[in-house]
Amino acid sequence: MNDTAADLRFVPLDAGDPATLDAWLRLTLDSAEDVPLSAAPPCAADLTGSVRFAPPGTALAGELALLGGQAVGALRLVFPDGAPVAVVDQLLTAPKERRQGIGTALFRRARALAAEHGRTRLVFDVVQALPGGPARDEGPAAFATALGASPAGSHEGVHQWLDLGAHDPLADGAPAVPAGYRLQRWGTITPDAFAIAVSELERSLGESPPETWGEGPGAIATSHVRRFERMRVGRGRRAYHVGAVHEETGRLAGFTSASKTTGNPEHLLQGMTVVAAAHRGHGLGLVLKLANLAHVREYEPRVRLIETANADSNRPMIALNEAMGFVPQERFVSWEAPVAPAV
Ligand code: ACO
Repeated sequence: MNDTAADLRFVPLDAGDPATLDAWLRLTLDSAEDVPLSAAPPCAADLTGSVRFAPPGTALAGELALLGGQAVGALRLVFPDGAPVAVVDQLLTAPKERRQGIGTALFRRARALAAEHGRTRLVFDVVQALPGGPARDEGPAAFATALGASPAGSHEGVHQWLDLGAHDPLADGAPAVPAGYRLQRWGTITPDAFAIAVSELERSLGESPPETWGEGPGAIATSHVRRFERMRVGRGRRAYHVGAVHEETGRLAGFTSASKTTGNPEHLLQGMTVVAAAHRGHGLGLVLKLANLAHVREYEPRVRLIETANADSNRPMIALNEAMGFVPQERFVSWEAPVAPAV
């Protein structure tokens, strides 16, 4: 280890320590163009809220690396309940401080924290350029390789962005709603009537551990969707939904979700779209997404750039997005490293 790394001091990111949080925010915002996986710039309200509000079924740990009192690096790990992994959510060296071993020290610290939480593997996504697509920094993959990590082959996919200034998928109007269904809008908070149905549709995609659904008395209050909403609201996010109700049964056949941070009026994140297996084949996915885009634009007229991410295994959704005018921008590839490095 060189002298810089040896002189580092790690302090926890703690909601009760505003000075450290401010330094972390400044470092993260100042380094914005280097942070992978993000079409929208980081939002201060979202970042601050994320320290208090972890996604359901996870715990978070964050640390700031200080050198002579200056913030030079940051590390955030996500610990999914009951899983053997720690997910590296942020591992960042201040742009002016790179190639002095700080990233290596952060990675070593990540391994130590993961071991303290009983995890055996560190996992993280690395962004790559698409053939013919915009250039992407190859440094993160070189760094990860140098630290003994390798592609995990577990999940890979594509980030797609839709620039409404270049293509408006609603220019010719919205497609007709298939016979036998009606559309229902809601905002950040899912109505009680749909809370369990939305949670179960998410469970059908395997997006959350099975213990988070909420069954029996108090099912709605403890449902996955209510837990997710608490995080969203705590991070200052606004969400927009459209669901498709099957008129004969009154059941929710599918829904789509889009959300915004408070700090980026032009950016929208297209989140989950799911249609129950029994209701597929009617074109509901596209109907829902376009109806929700119209919904968003009524309340967020400045939205211009929509980002979304899909695993390669979800070819139908990638194709649907392309039909809407989304353009693939970059690939994400999962990498992993053992928590105990080979000696
Ligand atoms: N190009 C090629 N190799 C690199 C690069 C690069 N840009 N950066 C690091 N390396 C390799 C080198 O082998 C380097 O050793 P050397 O300098 O003796 O040649 C080795 O990694 C260790 O580098 P450090 O100095 O410890 O790393 P640094 O402090 O520069 O931080 C980091 C690297 C974290 C990737 C930094 O560039 C950064 O913050 N980038 C933006 C955020 C990011 O992409 N983070 C994700 C990293 S992947 C992960 O999460 C594990």
